[in-house]
Formats: sequence, structure tokens, C-alpha cells
Amino acid sequence: MQDTRFPLSEILGALTHALDITEGQPPGHALRSCLIGMRVAEVIGLSERDRSALFYALLMKDAGCSANASRMAAIFSTDDMELKRTSKLVDTGDPKAERRWAVTSAGRGRGLSGRVKAIVELARTGAFADDLYAARCERGAEIARMLQLPEASAEAIRALDEHWNGGGRPSGLRGEEIPLLGRILGLSQTVEVFCAAAGPYEAIEVARARRSTWFDPALVDALTSIPIGDPLWAAVAAEDPAEFVAEHDPGDRLVTTGDAQLDLIAEAFSQVIDAKSPYTFNHSARVADVTLGMAVQAGIEGERLRDLRRAALLHDIGKLAVSNAVLDKPGKLTDDEFRQIKRHPEQTLAILSRAPCFAPIAELAANHHEKLDGSGYHRGITGDQLTFDMRILAVADIYEALTANRPYRDGMPLEKAMGIIASDVPHKLDREALAALRSWVQTDDPAVLAAPSADVIELGRAPSPHRRVA
Ligand SMILES: [Fe+2]
Ligand SMILES: [Fe+2]
Repeated sequence: MQDTRFPLSEILGALTHALDITEGQPPGHALRSCLIGMRVAEVIGLSERDRSALFYALLMKDAGCSANASRMAAIFSTDDMELKRTSKLVDTGDPKAERRWAVTSAGRGRGLSGRVKAIVELARTGAFADDLYAARCERGAEIARMLQLPEASAEAIRALDEHWNGGGRPSGLRGEEIPLLGRILGLSQTVEVFCAAAGPYEAIEVARARRSTWFDPALVDALTSIPIGDPLWAAVAAEDPAEFVAEHDPGDRLVTTGDAQLDLIAEAFSQVIDAKSPYTFNHSARVADVTLGMAVQAGIEGERLRDLRRAALLHDIGKLAVSNAVLDKPGKLTDDEFRQIKRHPEQTLAILSRAPCFAPIAELAANHHEKLDGSGYHRGITGDQLTFDMRILAVADIYEALTANRPYRDGMPLEKAMGIIASDVPHKLDREALAALRSWVQTDDPAVLAAPSADVIELGRAPSPHRRVA
């Protein structure tokens, strides 16, 4: 099949929805922030080169969002997404307001004794530690570098939460110590949050009120010089801002489907997914290796192999939409919590379907919990609707989950895991997929022992079952 080319902005723009959900924001938050930031850039006459770096930084500003979700949920004993949403509405430059927010947020939804316990725990651990912000900003910058975005984009993301008066986080940078693009990111995200919550007048008022405290005064002046009748505000209010974002696309980055850069995007997002919870540490990366190993043993090659690996890397992207209060819960899940978990493949389908380059693998990725007898989820479809590739991914996912080391237990020995999978063959899991897994775990090819799985595709060989993904 002919390779197709897609603008990088279209791919990243579609995936921003996963970041918006993780950050507790309404879908389209990153895209709308991008519109606001790019309009401010026009007003101040930013150079073409800087505008390009700013554009990608605005799209990927929340790439580190999953890096602190688990710790935030643990420290506050509540839903991380709601916590992140409300934190954006608080003036964190005002210690009293921040404390009030922390106390009302801790243990929310847990009853009186649960809340008291959460507040005591919060006071003990110190919720406002800079390292929560640092984890998010540093990780976001790393993901930007992984995506080979300009260094200026990575630096802007790192400085996302710094404030003009030095009261921001994590480094307390002041004034022009904060990179200009980072200052634009900070202003744009806050204006978007208040615009979505209360409309443009309120958003502009917040920007004005925080002029010279949170925000660079020159940037606030640029924003407030944009009349309320400007097309910006209509675009920000549009149901789908993606088409307006495309108008700002610098057009300097195209990705081809056959390109290693698309693998890189899948790998980068697999890291965003895996960072969400310590319980799924490295899961996506290892499922990709197992899937690839099985597929090679089953004689699958070329484009199909590449698609399988991409689907494996992204199969759990819908988990970004599940609260860490549920994902990381140590005890038994309630029926409602289990329902939330079971919705993640549906979210995977919705997120991947938005990106035309990933749409062909969306079904493959989203069917990883389906079973041949219809007892799986999210649709409960049966074997006649499950391709061999879907059946491989389903087995690889279980194998990884059983054998991986987790915070509460060591990985299961290989033979025991194989026995558990075999007990579901053939009514739930596919016989040939199991044969491929058996054949792969017995291989020991020193030539591929340490090779990254993307390189192994080039070799047409399976990654070693003995390789541990770092
Ligand atoms: Fe899953
Ligand atoms: Fe999974």
C-alpha cells in the first residue's frame, strides 16, 4: 500500500485529546490554547521560526500530564483528574487560596472520616512540593525532545508553570529568565481554562488581574489589544477548533505512514500512557515487544507487523481517561470502578480514530480485551469479528500483565503464566496465537537480545523474550 503523508500537527492535535482528559480539561483545551497563543504571537510579531516552535509546544504542553497523576491522587486521596481541573482555577500565587483549595480537595468523595484522614496525610506529606510540577514539566520536555521538536519547544514546556514574579513552579524563574515561548504557553493555558469555564470576558479579566504577577505584562497587553470581535474568539468557541488550528500550521513537518517518525510518535505516547500508573510501568512497551515476537513467529511481516507494533504501543491510551484513584486502588474494585476500567478500550478507539494516520489501527488496538466466546469487553464481540492480529494482541496483553513485576507482587514465572493462558484456549483465546507465544518464548537469538523493537522490525526478526525493556 502507498505511504500517506500527514501534517505532524494533525497527528499531535488529535492525540491532544488524550492529554486534555488526563489533565481534567474539556476536550479541545490544548487546541484552543494553541489558537490563543498563536494569535498573541501574531500581535507581538514573533519570527516564523519561533512561531513554529511555539505552535508545537502549545500542542504538546501537557505531554507530561501523566507523570504526576498517580502521586497527586495518592497525596490528596482523590480523583486526580478533578484535582487537576480545579487546580487550574486557583490562584496558586496566593498561599491562602491554594491552602483552601487543598483542604477542600483532599479526600473529596470519601465521607467525613476519609476526608479528615486525607487532610492529615496531606499536611504530613506537603502537597505543594515543587517536584509534582517538576515531574510534569520535565517529562513534558522529554517527550517533546523524543518527538524531535525544536529545543525551544521543549524549553517552553519545561517553563509552562513559571510566573513572571518568580512565584511559579518548579524553578521560581523570574521575568525574562522564563523563555518567551514558555511565557506565552503559561498565559494561553490560563486564558483558555477561564474562557472555557466563564467566557472570554472573564478570561481577559483574569489575565489583566495577573498582569506582572503570573504573566509578562507585554503579553497581557498584546492579548487585551485583541478586540472581542476578533475571529480568535469565534474560533475558540467553535465546537471543533481543529480546522482553525490547521490555519496556524507552519507546514514544516510532515510524517509519512511508513516513516520511523510515526513509530516514534507511538513510542512517545506509549511512555505517556505507561507513566500514568506505577501498576502499568512499561506495560505498553513490553506488550509491543511480546506482540512483535509472537507476530514474527506466526510469519507476519512488513506493514502488518509495523501496524501491530503501533497498535500494541497505543492499545491502552484510553487508560489516560481513567482516574488513578481507580487504576491504583490496592483493594477490590467496586462495580462502578470496574465499569470505569472497562471503558478504556472504548476511549482508545475514540482517541485513535481522531488521528487519520492511526485510524487504521484503532479497531485492532481497541479490541484487546475481547474474547472469542464474547465474554470480553468493551463490545463483547465474538471470534468471527476478531482478526488473527487482534487475537495476538489480546494474548500478548495478558502475558505481559501476568509476567510483569508490579509494586504489589513479582511477575509470575513463565510456565505458570503459560498455563493460565492455555486454560483459556480455545474458548476465549486463540490456539495459534498461543502457539506463536510458545514458540517465541523459546527463542534465544543473541543478535536481537539488546535491539530496540523498532530496529528488530527492520531485521524481520523477533525481539528477544529475554530482553527487559528499560
Ligand atoms: Fe487494556
Ligand atoms: Fe494492556
